[in-house]
Amino acid sequence: MTPTPPAWTHLQSLAERAHDTNIASLVNSLDRLDRYSLSLNGLHVDFSKHLVTDDVFDGLVTLARECGLSHHIEQLMSGAVVNVSEGRAALHTALRNPSHQLPDDFREHVYDERKKMRDLSDQIRNGSWRGSNGQSITDVVNIGIGGSDLGPKMVTEALREFHDGPRVHFLSNVDGAEIFSLLPQLNAASTLIVICSKTFTTQETMLNTKTAMAWLKDELNLQDPAASTHCIGITGSPQKAENFGIPPGQLLTFKDSVGGRYSTWSSIGFSACVAIGYEHFLAFLEGGAAMDQHFSHSSFEKNIPVISALLGIWYNNFLKAQSYAVVPYCQRLRLLVDHLQQLDMESNGKSATSDNQRSTLDTGPIVWGQTGTNGQHAFFQLLHQGQKLVPVDFIGVANDDLSNDEHHRILLVNMVAQAQALMNGKTGEDAHRFYPGNRPSTTMLIDELTPFNMGMLLALYEHKVYVQSIIWGTNAFDQWGVELGKQLTHDILEGDGEQDPSTRALLKKAGIID
Ligand code: F6P
Repeated sequence: MTPTPPAWTHLQSLAERAHDTNIASLVNSLDRLDRYSLSLNGLHVDFSKHLVTDDVFDGLVTLARECGLSHHIEQLMSGAVVNVSEGRAALHTALRNPSHQLPDDFREHVYDERKKMRDLSDQIRNGSWRGSNGQSITDVVNIGIGGSDLGPKMVTEALREFHDGPRVHFLSNVDGAEIFSLLPQLNAASTLIVICSKTFTTQETMLNTKTAMAWLKDELNLQDPAASTHCIGITGSPQKAENFGIPPGQLLTFKDSVGGRYSTWSSIGFSACVAIGYEHFLAFLEGGAAMDQHFSHSSFEKNIPVISALLGIWYNNFLKAQSYAVVPYCQRLRLLVDHLQQLDMESNGKSATSDNQRSTLDTGPIVWGQTGTNGQHAFFQLLHQGQKLVPVDFIGVANDDLSNDEHHRILLVNMVAQAQALMNGKTGEDAHRFYPGNRPSTTMLIDELTPFNMGMLLALYEHKVYVQSIIWGTNAFDQWGVELGKQLTHDILEGDGEQDPSTRALLKKAGIID
């Protein structure tokens, strides 16, 4: 973001006076709630409890304008090459709404893959897809890591209420204790291995796959397990998957222009789709598309992802917060935090700008958190009395058929009370009982945890991350930072290169080298 837009300088001067801002009195002011809360379908978002005066808010919106945000949103949605370091578009929104003004071949591919996904998942769910001994599928094992694991796993867990298909297990870590614990619990004859990898080269996934194939071979006496009906591949590199031995009819694919952490909407979501059924998966896509519409067409002042992003910029760049916490008051949303860590930190944890210069700005925040009420009995001490500024996203579900009135009331009241306590604080008789307050939070209330609402929530965060990347001038769609560690792992395993004394000693102690 060079040269510095005038709004940036203005916001810096407003930040110097931010200690005069009192959230509690802002919240009590006329029209505050109207101006700072928004609803979209089954999602209600209250942005009123922020350290943000109208002047700051206007300054942030002006900053977005000065950074050409409308143009960048248009670029994303129309399939322009926004991932410049890899020369690609970022077409995850087109997976949710393929009727976009996008290249015909991409659109056709999305419809073809959706059809394959529907047909295959229907067959698995209705029992007509059979293993080598003629048994229907009772267990699906999704092998994948990063974006080929976190999104589908999170969606499957979040939508447990809709899970009426086979059991679904997720294996990501190369830690053998996981796969060697899981497989003996399963009946190979009724197990389907779903290998998820965009590149079909990821070390962890390929080793877990090798172990799973050896298990199928032994248990079922199969010559070629990869070619059997116990194996399905999901990939952006179909040739590699075919070379591995998976028949084309058992492959689902997606295009290079869908990034790993944005791929839950693609055939990578297959295991979730098997769990909840295609109609529900489609509703999830429609929820994402509804958020896309809102994001593309709402003014910045009424735009949920844009406001969310701008508040994050305010805290990160002007008030020097280092992190934000995500606290869902719904145990089924436990894995949202893990997913958002990849989404946000792999997208914006960058020191380079899109045009390949060293960034001069403080980019991506640290994302952390866990579910409420559990977090209240752990890290909330720091949120209330610690010396770090940590804005919080509270996420609650208003109606939950899996709970009862008594539990649910207590759960939701806890959430609302925590936001209130952070804001109000309390003067104490002594230092131990002093709560400084004035601590900001957003509260999102979802009417029910449906596939549609889940789609909206996930797309909201994706767009938030994109807006921030535009303000910072980063490319949200590459991830060069993960390559060096992969390379060094390879070098050590191959015995290449010189190791420093510390590394050598650790490898020795761990029994890796002599
Ligand atoms: O190492 C990072 C990464 O490339 C992620 O971006 C990606 O989601 C993950 O690895 C898995 O990659 P793949 O789907 O190609 O196995």
